[in-house]
Amino acid sequence: MTQRKILITSALPYANGPIHLGHMLEYIQTDIWSRFQKARGHQCYYVCADDAHGTPIMLKAQQLGITPEQMIAQTSQEHQADFAEFLIGFDNYHSTHSEENKQFASDIYTKLDQGGYIKRKTISQLFDPEKQMFLPDRFVKGDCPKCGALDQNGDSCDSCGATYSPTELKNPRSVVSGATPVLKDSEHYFFDLPAFEQMLKDWTRSGSLQDEMANKLQEWFTEGLQQWDISRDAPYFGFEIPGAPGKFFYVWLDAPIGYLASFKNYCDKTGVNFDQFWQKDSDAEIYHFIGKDIIYFHSLFWPAMLDGAGYRKPTSVYAHGFVTVNGAKMSKSRGTFIKARTYLEHLNPEYLRYYFASKLTSNITDLDLNLEDFAQKVNADLVGKVVNIASRCASFISKKFDGKLTADIAEPALLAEFTAAGETIAESFEKREFARAIREIMALADKANQYIDAKAPWVLAKNEATLTEAHLVCSMGINLFRVLMHYLKPVLPAMAKEVELFLNDELSWSTYQTALTNHSINVFKPLMQRVEMTKVEAMIEGSKENLQPTAAVAAPKAAETKAAPAAVSSDAAIEPIGETISIDDFAKLDLRVARIINAEHVEGADKLVKLQLDLGNEQRQVFAGIKSAYQPEQLIGRLTVMVANLAPRKMRFGMSEGMVMAAGPGGSDIFLLTPDDGATPGMRVK
Ligand code: 2FM
Ligand code: ZN
Repeated sequence: MTQRKILITSALPYANGPIHLGHMLEYIQTDIWSRFQKARGHQCYYVCADDAHGTPIMLKAQQLGITPEQMIAQTSQEHQADFAEFLIGFDNYHSTHSEENKQFASDIYTKLDQGGYIKRKTISQLFDPEKQMFLPDRFVKGDCPKCGALDQNGDSCDSCGATYSPTELKNPRSVVSGATPVLKDSEHYFFDLPAFEQMLKDWTRSGSLQDEMANKLQEWFTEGLQQWDISRDAPYFGFEIPGAPGKFFYVWLDAPIGYLASFKNYCDKTGVNFDQFWQKDSDAEIYHFIGKDIIYFHSLFWPAMLDGAGYRKPTSVYAHGFVTVNGAKMSKSRGTFIKARTYLEHLNPEYLRYYFASKLTSNITDLDLNLEDFAQKVNADLVGKVVNIASRCASFISKKFDGKLTADIAEPALLAEFTAAGETIAESFEKREFARAIREIMALADKANQYIDAKAPWVLAKNEATLTEAHLVCSMGINLFRVLMHYLKPVLPAMAKEVELFLNDELSWSTYQTALTNHSINVFKPLMQRVEMTKVEAMIEGSKENLQPTAAVAAPKAAETKAAPAAVSSDAAIEPIGETISIDDFAKLDLRVARIINAEHVEGADKLVKLQLDLGNEQRQVFAGIKSAYQPEQLIGRLTVMVANLAPRKMRFGMSEGMVMAAGPGGSDIFLLTPDDGATPGMRVK
């Protein structure tokens, strides 16, 4: 087999939020594929990075009172810790906010400009006069221009489904400051995507794209390719465009360039030849694994940018679907929006690696993590079938034969059947048909167990005359188990390591065809515990968004990035005082008196009330988890205290722009803070 040169990437996660199980599907899929390619002896590298630029990251750092650099450094550590525990074996993890990325972004941009692919055009956009910044669509809200529904997003209406430009909104306001935005002109830089239409059409037909991807591209060609706006005005966290002071590259320009930057960073550390992979006539293979939501960026802009700047294009872009949990979109209130960290606090990462592998195909359909099925499948397949083979055979060999396997193989034909399956299993892994590979491996595991059942070595071992036969059967069982663990190693690297210790052997794709004979093995230790549903349930509890108002005084960071504590039980009326905060933390809270001018039930939410609050000079919408204690009608007209500078949060039901303060253990014992009537809305509370 000739050795291939392969570079693999997964999409770069944004540096302003935690990794969740939706992300993990992609990293697990890519990691299995990368481990498989490495096991097959190819020269293969898997790189990634944090996607560190853009307005949301800049604003979040401001809210936290830290620099964007501090925030992205912290997030990078958290991301890398999560990935390491999920056994994601990156060869390099970098950042788009890096020297290498700056170099590549400037270089690619300059080449595109020299090639005539950058156009300049003045456009008019909404501008926040208070914050002195242009507002991306998602940072403008207002009333729907079509149906008049209040408080809709800048690009679409949740009520009537209309899509529009933020300049069409009625009563628009900035989500950042609350100010009314004004229209302002600015010169923007555009990448001339239509100039690459023919090249992209040829690339689409090169045969290595998924059908769904090729169809999508076809639709976009039919609609017509558009110029792409690649500049943003200051203030912006990113790289300044060379020769254009005050203009920055839009985050999506330098994000994919981060693939080059991370690989370059790796090459500089290790001496691997970067150009061999990325130069125009390279014979290396490059694969990007991505989610189906970002196909446009990866299959149009990215190959066009590379081509225009004189680089080779990716060999392929592999998209996958989204993760649903128990058949529905991941939900914070149901506790199914599960962060990687929360999962790790309760469950073994290899359970999830196995479950995802057992359901992954090469297409872009969504993958459902059904938690009952998850527990059942892991227990039945890994514990009940695979580990069971070894545990039934090992102790007998240790006790009666000093840990030594027989010199002969009892059933060469059966073993040959197991090893012969290696090529079709490899083909399934190669084609990213992991589910098919797993099905074949489990069918073999069934055969191994049937063989052991039929021979019943525990009966043979009782009789001196059949002791040798028992030894042969158990040695055979261990050899069958060993072949299966070779195949499972890319999926279960930690368990495979344990098996290597147990077998005194290294599992690699080149050794499974030679059986272990006359070979000493070690004492068998349990390789995997069963999944317990109580732990799965604890994970769900730990993932439930804490809508209890007692969380109101938590600093924004804690509210957004830490696992929310489970709701307090109503008999724990007086809780011990928790973690202390400094006076500086406290000073960051902008507490204001607010009048509740409207309060409504929220369809589909049993704990929430939707409040419209008057702060004197502006109004806010807040969703408060106080329905167990108050009927909405009781609240209208009352004064309360709110945290006015809490970052707006998009909830399933709409934006929540602050938090009202309340105390109490929960249930009907929630007491909204209500200042005396002498207070006026907007008044600061200190
Ligand atoms: O959609 C996202 O999460 C982006 N941060 C992915 C970037 S992938 C690549 F282009 F950098
Ligand atoms: Zn509408």
